[in-house]
Amino acid sequence: MHYIKIPIKKAESMKALLLRNALLDRKRKVMHSTRYVYFPVISIDGAKTKKLIESSYGAIIDRVGPMRTETEDYKSMLSAVLDADEMKELTGGYDLLGNIAIIDVSDKLAEKEALISKAILASNKSITTVIAKAGAVSGIYRVRKFRYVSGKRTYNATYRENGSIFVFDVRKTFFSNRLSYERSRINALVKKAEHVAVPFAGVGPFAIEIAKAHPDAKVIAIELNGDAYKAMVKNIELNKTSNVKAYLGNVKSIAKRHASWADRVVMPTPKTSMDFLDDALILSKRVSTVHIYLFCAAEGGIKKAKDAIKAHAKANSYLVRFNNVRIVRPYSKDEIEIVIDYTIRKKDQHI
Ligand SMILES: C[S@@+](CC[C@H](N)C(=O)[O-])C[C@H]1O[C@@H](n2cnc3c(N)ncnc32)[C@H](O)[C@@H]1O
Repeated sequence: MHYIKIPIKKAESMKALLLRNALLDRKRKVMHSTRYVYFPVISIDGAKTKKLIESSYGAIIDRVGPMRTETEDYKSMLSAVLDADEMKELTGGYDLLGNIAIIDVSDKLAEKEALISKAILASNKSITTVIAKAGAVSGIYRVRKFRYVSGKRTYNATYRENGSIFVFDVRKTFFSNRLSYERSRINALVKKAEHVAVPFAGVGPFAIEIAKAHPDAKVIAIELNGDAYKAMVKNIELNKTSNVKAYLGNVKSIAKRHASWADRVVMPTPKTSMDFLDDALILSKRVSTVHIYLFCAAEGGIKKAKDAIKAHAKANSYLVRFNNVRIVRPYSKDEIEIVIDYTIRKKDQHI
């Protein structure tokens, strides 16, 4: 039987990855040792899946483990009440933000929504609430509408990731557990006593995880949405990360107050990040690293984005060196989300 062995600190993000890819075997129990969590998985055969797990710090191992007794897997519960075609429609599973499960059932299954949500609640005791997506992520705050479906009527999520805890209202703030790998990746790049700027900080996951892992770092986190800012302040307190200073306001004005301050600038706002290259430059020290997230065309988009950064560097007389480009996730039929890591080296007139 296959298990994914993962260090305790990375367990929450591995669980989210396994759920998203419908790999968790809910018929068997999750096991724990002092340093590791062992997630039971259905058989892992694809090379792509293996790579995905291994690049997220998981090791695929063979061991014997106990079956679950309390609850049944929600898909097997549903197989009793849904026909084969309806079961096929259920491919996506659900997203989990701590206590809140988010479903997005197709029109064909709309009438079965209540049944599906009851099965989710019954299959996992830590889920208190099931809500459904009721629109796309939109607007400058990047928030989404949700509809209550069943369980406790709340929109407040308590979510653990990479050893930190976050509380936030899913209707009023942006949060994506799909970025958990990126947060640990960037965290691993931070060096001793760095100054890290996180414009577009949301409820604080990048800033807080970096600050927690690097108590000698100084982190600033900038957010425009008042609700996200308030949640971030609370999350800083909950995680005891007094080395993060949160700012409420527009990056365009707050960056100027921290000119030439940052060794590293993290720009997690993929829809509009390219409008803020000036601000990344302002925040940067003479030499600094920028991580810019953006949506781009799957065909030719990466080259176009690099060309735009090169053109900005030329127009503003700084040198740019590309260190890494990574596809974060598919975004739509023709678009992907990517992250480009690049180094800025300012010429003397900027200093
Ligand atoms: C995609 S979310 C990223 C949130 C967070 N970094 C995360 O990983 O969950 C982008 C965030 O940037 C904020 N934002 C948008 N424009 C902004 C601006 N001009 N200045 C500061 N924050 C801004 C939005 O309110 C939103 O919370």
